[in-house]
Amino acid sequence: MNPSILVAQNLSKVVSSAEGELTILHGLDLDLARGASLAIVGSSGSGKSTLLGLLAGLDLPSAGEVALAGHSLAGLDEDRRARIRAEHVGFVFQSFQLLDTLDALANVMLPLELEGRADARERARELLERVGLGQRLAHYPKQLSGGEQQRVAIARAFAAEPDILFADEPTGNLDSQTGERISDLLFALNQERGTTLVLVTHDERLARRCQRLIRLEAGRLVASEP
Ligand SMILES: Nc1ncnc2c1ncn2[C@@H]1O[C@H](COP(=O)(O)OP(=O)(O)OP(=O)(O)O)[C@@H](O)[C@H]1O
Ligand SMILES: [Mg+2]
Repeated sequence: MNPSILVAQNLSKVVSSAEGELTILHGLDLDLARGASLAIVGSSGSGKSTLLGLLAGLDLPSAGEVALAGHSLAGLDEDRRARIRAEHVGFVFQSFQLLDTLDALANVMLPLELEGRADARERARELLERVGLGQRLAHYPKQLSGGEQQRVAIARAFAAEPDILFADEPTGNLDSQTGERISDLLFALNQERGTTLVLVTHDERLARRCQRLIRLEAGRLVASEP
C-alpha cells in the first residue's frame, strides 16, 4: 500500500472575479503519510479553505493534481469524486453545513444510514456524547449555538470512520476548554484508528499538536515544518 494518503502536485486555483482572473493558489505541492497530522495556517484570505476543498476532492484545481487514498482525482466527475469521498473522507466545513430539517441525532446518523449500518442510532448518540452534546440530541441546528453546531458537524464527520479527516477551523467557535476537548477527540481518533488529520486552524495550541505544519501567504506555501 502506498504510504502516502494524500499527494498534491503543482496545485493551482484560478477564479474569475469582477476584476478579472484571480489566482488564489499558486502551484502547491504536498505529500502526507497515512496517519499523519497536518495543520494548515495563514491569515484570512490566504487560501486555506480553497486548498482544503481541493485536497478533499470537493472542488477541482485549475492546474495540478491531487491523489487521495491512492485515487487520482484528475478528470473525475463529481459522482466519482463523491464515491471516493464517501469511502475515505470526513469533512468539517467552516460553515458546518448541517441539514436544518434534521435534529442533531439525525444529522449524525445520516452518513451511517447511507452506509446501511444497523447501529446508526446508537453510534450517533455515542459520538454526540463524546462531543458533549448528549443533552441536545433532539435539537435542530437553529436551536443550537454556533459552537454546538460545530460539534455536531465534527461528530458527523467522525461517524463513518474516515481514513482522512479534513476540518476547517474545527475549534473556531469554541471556548478554550471546549476547544481542548475537541482537540483531544481529534487526536484520540488519530492515535486509536490511525485517522489522518488535515486541519485548517487559527488555534495555535491545536496547530502545535500536529506533526506537520504548512503556512500559506496569498496562496503560496511560505513555510513547511518540519
Ligand atoms: N469563487 C471565488 N471567486 C472569487 N474569489 C474567491 C473565490 N473563492 C475564494 N476566493 C478568494 O480567494 C481567497 C482565498 O479564500 P479562502 O476562503 O481560501 O481563504 P481562507 O484562507 O480560508 O480565509 P479565512 O481564514 O478567512 O477562512 C480570498 O481572497 C477569497 O476572496
Ligand atoms: Mg477559510
